[in-house]
Amino acid sequence: MTEKTQSIHGQWSSRFAFILAATGSAVGLGNIWKFPYITGENGGGAFVMVYLLCVAALGIPIMIAEIMLGRRGRQSPINTMKSLAAEAGADPRWHYLGWTGMIAGFLILAYYSVIAGWAMAYIVKAFFGQFINSDAGEIKRLFENLMANPVQQIFWHTAFMMATMYFVMQGVQNGLEKAVRFLMPALFVILILLVGYAMSTGAYEQGMNFLFSPDFSKIDADAVLTAMGHAFFTLSLGMGAIMVYGSYLPNHVSIAKTTLFIAGADTVVALLAGIAIFPLVFANNLEAGAGPGLIFQTLPLAFGHMTGGWLFGLLFFILLFFAALSSSISLIEPAVAWLVENRNIERHQASAWAGAACWALGVCVVFSFNIWSDLKLFDKNLFELLDYLTANLMLPLGGMAIAIFAGWMMKTQHAEQELEMPAAGFQAWHVLIKYVSPAAVFLVFLHVLGAL
Ligand code: PHE
Ligand code: NA
Repeated sequence: MTEKTQSIHGQWSSRFAFILAATGSAVGLGNIWKFPYITGENGGGAFVMVYLLCVAALGIPIMIAEIMLGRRGRQSPINTMKSLAAEAGADPRWHYLGWTGMIAGFLILAYYSVIAGWAMAYIVKAFFGQFINSDAGEIKRLFENLMANPVQQIFWHTAFMMATMYFVMQGVQNGLEKAVRFLMPALFVILILLVGYAMSTGAYEQGMNFLFSPDFSKIDADAVLTAMGHAFFTLSLGMGAIMVYGSYLPNHVSIAKTTLFIAGADTVVALLAGIAIFPLVFANNLEAGAGPGLIFQTLPLAFGHMTGGWLFGLLFFILLFFAALSSSISLIEPAVAWLVENRNIERHQASAWAGAACWALGVCVVFSFNIWSDLKLFDKNLFELLDYLTANLMLPLGGMAIAIFAGWMMKTQHAEQELEMPAAGFQAWHVLIKYVSPAAVFLVFLHVLGAL
C-alpha cells in the first residue's frame, strides 16, 4: 500500500482543528448528563475510581490506537480496516469491526438525540424563567411532565436530528470547527460557576465525599462493567468515531500528545459536572440514584436561586446542546463516509438517509419513557437496552478488537512510523495495547459472566 496523504472526504486544517473536533466529539452528554447519573446509581467514589482507572489504562492507549488506524487507513472505518488488514496480511474479516462500530454509532445516536432534545426543551424553560425560585418538587414535576409528553419529546428529538444532519452535510472542515472553539471554553466557565454555587449549598463536603471516597462494597461486577463501558463511551472510543476523525488528520501530527489533551479535557469536564451536581442532590434531599433525569432535576435548582441564574441557566442548556451536537455528528460520520465511498452517493444524500433511519429508532426511544415504559426485555426498556448494548458491550468489545489489531496484527514498525514517539513512550504504549488493554476488557467480561 502506498502511504496515503489525505482522505477523499477532506482533511482538518491543522492539528488544532483536529483537537477541537475530537474534543467536541468526546465532551458531550456523556460527561454532563450520563457520568453524574450513573455515578449516582452506582454509589459514587468506588465507581468513579474504576472509571478513572479505565480511562488511564484502557481509554488513552486505545484512543492512540484508534486514531492511528484511522490516519493510516484514511477512509471510513470499514474500508480502513479492509486496507489495513490487507497491509498486515491479516484476515479480511477484520473489516467487520468497521461494521459493528457503524451500527453502534447508529444505535447510540438514536437515544443520544432524544436526550439532547431534552436539553433543547430546557433552553426554552430556562428562557421563560421556569426555574426561578422553584423548589425541588416543582423542578421534579417539570421534568416528569416532559417525560410524560411524547409529542414534545419527538418535536425536540426531530429538531436535534435535523441540526445534526445540517452539520454533517457541511463536511468535516466546515461543520462545527469554528463554533466549538468558543463553546468549549464557555461551557468550562459555566461549570466552574456551578461548582462555586455548589460550594455555597452547605452540602459541598458531602458531595465531594460521595464522589471521591471509595467504598468498594458498593460496587458489583455489573457496576465495574458500566464504569469500563463509560470510559469508552465518554472518550468516543470503540466504534470508529475517533477512527474516522483520525482519517482526516494530517501526517506527522503527534497522536499521543493530542490524545492526552482530549482525554484530560473530557475527564475534567465530567468531574466538574459531578462536583457541581452532588452537593445540590444532598442539600435538597434528592435521590442520587434518580437516573437519567438527575441533571434536569438538580441544576435548575441552582439556576433558580443563584445570582444571574436566569442567564446562566439559559447559557448552560444552550452550551449543552452544542456539546451534544459536536458529539452527535461524530456518531454518524462513519456511516456517512462509508455511504459516500461505497454507494457512490453525495454527502448530503448519505446524511439524509442515515439521519432518517436513526430518527425513526429515536421515536421508539421516546416512547420508552412513557407509553412503552413497561415494555421490557431483560428487565430493561428500549432506552436502557440500547444504552447497555452499546456502552457496556459493543464499545468495550470494539475497543478490545482495536487493541488486538494494533498490538498483534499491525507490524510494530508501522505503528512506530505512525506514532513517531520517543522509544520509551512507544514501548509503554505497546505493552498497554498488546497485553493490558485486551486483558482488562476480557477479565471484566469474565467477571460479569461469572457473577450471573
Ligand atoms: N463521547 C460522547 C459523550 O460523552 C458520546 C459519543 C460516544 C460520541 C461514542 C461518539 C462516539 O457524550
Ligand atoms: Na465524553
